[in-house]
Amino acid sequence: MTRLCEGRVAIVTGAARGVGREHALLLAKHGAKVVVNDLGAAVDGTGADRSFAQQVADEIEADKGEAIVNGDDVSDFDGAKNLIDQAINTYGKLDILVNNAGILRDRMLVNMTEEEWDAVIAVHLKGTFAPSRHAAAYWRAMSKEKDAPVSGRIINTSSTSGIYGNVGQTNYGAAKAGIAAFTIIAARELGRFGVTVNAISPSAYTRMTDNLREYTEEEIAVRAPRWVAPTVVYLASDEAQDITGRVIQAGAGMVAVCEGWRRGAQIEAMDDPVALGPKLREMVGQVRRNSGMDGFELD
Ligand SMILES: NC(=O)c1ccc[n+]([C@@H]2O[C@H](COP(=O)([O-])OP(=O)(O)OC[C@H]3O[C@@H](n4cnc5c(N)ncnc54)[C@H](O)[C@@H]3O)[C@@H](O)[C@H]2O)c1
Repeated sequence: MTRLCEGRVAIVTGAARGVGREHALLLAKHGAKVVVNDLGAAVDGTGADRSFAQQVADEIEADKGEAIVNGDDVSDFDGAKNLIDQAINTYGKLDILVNNAGILRDRMLVNMTEEEWDAVIAVHLKGTFAPSRHAAAYWRAMSKEKDAPVSGRIINTSSTSGIYGNVGQTNYGAAKAGIAAFTIIAARELGRFGVTVNAISPSAYTRMTDNLREYTEEEIAVRAPRWVAPTVVYLASDEAQDITGRVIQAGAGMVAVCEGWRRGAQIEAMDDPVALGPKLREMVGQVRRNSGMDGFELD
């Protein structure tokens, strides 16, 4: 078997369960040494239990791989630094950072509390920024020391909720759209050091999604979280050096490359809002509508 990540060192955040667990297992199968980060929180982000992350590390070692556990909270700036340092101090380097940790606090906007907003923005958005920030500083230092680009990888986790828009998730969707924007900007900044930055938008049957509706056994099989991991492992490999700044849907029977915002119909600036109104209306009618949650245009 070709091993795509032989000798590389990877961190996967939120790797104790669901999608992140599969990333960690497949990265290890492809030769990466893995730092299994997880707070061991409930879906809403409360609580902490390291034993689930330990189980994943044990599973990797039982399969002759190498793994260690880290229990830092990714939304804590110093905790995120500790996570990056632990990988470097244990394995001598860091090549791959998969930002996957996440929580949910769904609520309609009219009822959403400040705490529900802050918690979701913290884990997803700051929890992507903080480890990426420390990893980026490390890779910049490495590329200067070597006087050559590194082969660093950041793989973030967005969601159809953010890139397409899902009712009841203004907090989560805003964070996930923010992660997509973060991905594009960080890719532009870090390319010069040899670091690629991409995001996946997973679809998988996990504890986060199992209560959304009833799923048949066939659907559960198609939506098994293991179907998301191959995209992450390929993006993490040396082979994917030329793919950056992309958001890629993976899981539930497909892999799809998403297209971002682009300018649609345009007119010259007008200073009279009364005259502008009909023109604006005309342009709104001309451009493609926002997509629905399936990623295609609404009727
Ligand atoms: N399952 C899906 O269909 C789906 C769809 C879109 C996006 N996602 C995203 O994929 C990622 C994984 O989701 P999942 O479905 O596997 O959920 P999950 O609940 O099974 O796993 C998330 C993990 O993140 C950990 N975590 C939470 N807060 C943390 C923190 N502050 N620091 C470290 N770890 C923390 C949890 O303990 C948990 O193990 C999330 O970012 C989620 O938003 C999932």
